[in-house]
Amino acid sequence: MKPLRDFPDGFLWGVATSAQQIEGGIHDGGRGESIWDRFARAPGRIEDGSDAAVACDHFHLWREDIERMRWLGVGAYRFSVAWPRVQPKGRGPANAAGLDFYDALVDGLLEAGIRPFVTLYHWDLPQALQERGGWAARDTVSAFADYAALVSRRLGDRVRDWTTHNEPWCIATLGHEQGHHAPGRCDPAESLRVAHHVLLSHGRAAQAVRRNAAGAQVGIVLNLTPVAPATPTEADRDAARQADGMLNRWYLDPLFRGRYPEDAVADRARQGHLDGPQMPFVKPGDLAEIATPLDFLGVNYYSRAVVRAGDDGQPVGVQVVPAEQLTDMGWEVHPQGLHDLLVRVDRDYAPAKIFITENGAAYADGPDATGQVHDARRIEFLRGHLQAAQRALGDGVPVVGYFTWSLLDNFEWAHGYTRRFGLYWVDFVTQQRIPKHSAYWYRDVVASGVVDDATLEPSARRSP
Ligand code: FCB
Repeated sequence: MKPLRDFPDGFLWGVATSAQQIEGGIHDGGRGESIWDRFARAPGRIEDGSDAAVACDHFHLWREDIERMRWLGVGAYRFSVAWPRVQPKGRGPANAAGLDFYDALVDGLLEAGIRPFVTLYHWDLPQALQERGGWAARDTVSAFADYAALVSRRLGDRVRDWTTHNEPWCIATLGHEQGHHAPGRCDPAESLRVAHHVLLSHGRAAQAVRRNAAGAQVGIVLNLTPVAPATPTEADRDAARQADGMLNRWYLDPLFRGRYPEDAVADRARQGHLDGPQMPFVKPGDLAEIATPLDFLGVNYYSRAVVRAGDDGQPVGVQVVPAEQLTDMGWEVHPQGLHDLLVRVDRDYAPAKIFITENGAAYADGPDATGQVHDARRIEFLRGHLQAAQRALGDGVPVVGYFTWSLLDNFEWAHGYTRRFGLYWVDFVTQQRIPKHSAYWYRDVVASGVVDDATLEPSARRSP
């Protein structure tokens, strides 16, 4: 078959997960409570009333999960370290059993020839720190830098690739403005303070990691969303500008230009979400620390946003495609958005390198009578997005790797176990894992570096 879409040699293929979503074992090895453990206990917060106490039980099954990655043939695994495993109360000396877990995981990955990509924070703040103000408190910045130092001191001799935060927008907006995520706060002004502290802690942690890990490559992971106006009217175009300001530039500008975007700051001031024309929580020197040069940018891409102007002129999301073009998250399948986003980020911010650190789709497909999981829609999703990434590469964007979200079906935050993103289907009662057809397909892509147009179903049926 004629290869239609070739990826360059050395392109890094991976899979991604996060601690809170897969590990379980929340009381094992001296782990402390996280804000998500607490949030999940509050009635009505999680769609199916579940929690992450067991999740995929990866805390116990990690060895076999590494075997799955080995079978997939991936060159890298992006996982996160749970802060409350390392520091149960968020401060103080390291909990030995917690660090031992990640130490063994890293060794196991390296033995399997898989490069560990460590995310230091994927939303599981120690609850004890939340009680002292959480990310709204400036003290949490230094706590995070200390935690980053502890982890990098232990793993820095073997781990080269580090990201500080996963998706600061979600931490600030979903967690502190909309209240959909832990800690469930609904305070727009507070969410700006949170965003700033998270960014500042990124800069401090990056410095700590570089001190401890010789040759470390340090980046941050942003969820970026291209925004289109629903119509070409001036009002809708302004709504798109506003949405782009909050979703994308509020993070990209400080990181790459050392300043917040003026128009977006003015929007927030007009809405009464600043404590004045200034942002008093931005102290002298902060922005320089935030703009510490990055070795790479991690981009998570799932969908685009289409917005119109609401009555107050603020952006309101609209759905412009039929329901069959939505994933189970209700997100539009829009591969071209990944291309456009990568080209724009490269043009406007010129990161040295870009990893696509998450991309994937929630579809409910489970095993049929023969135990096979036919998830053709996921294959189509991944194919379309990889082809979009390939076009961006052809346009000169320095995309050097791609991580599928996710290795396993897992605890999808406020949706509990009702949304399945995995290449492996998981039975959350028995912990049985079944490779979906997308796992066979991805395995072929990883082995060949080719994303072909022709086959809908994977050619191989070698069992894992
Ligand atoms: C991202 C998160 C990840 C997962 C996917 C679906 O926002 O980083 O943990 O929940 O969405």
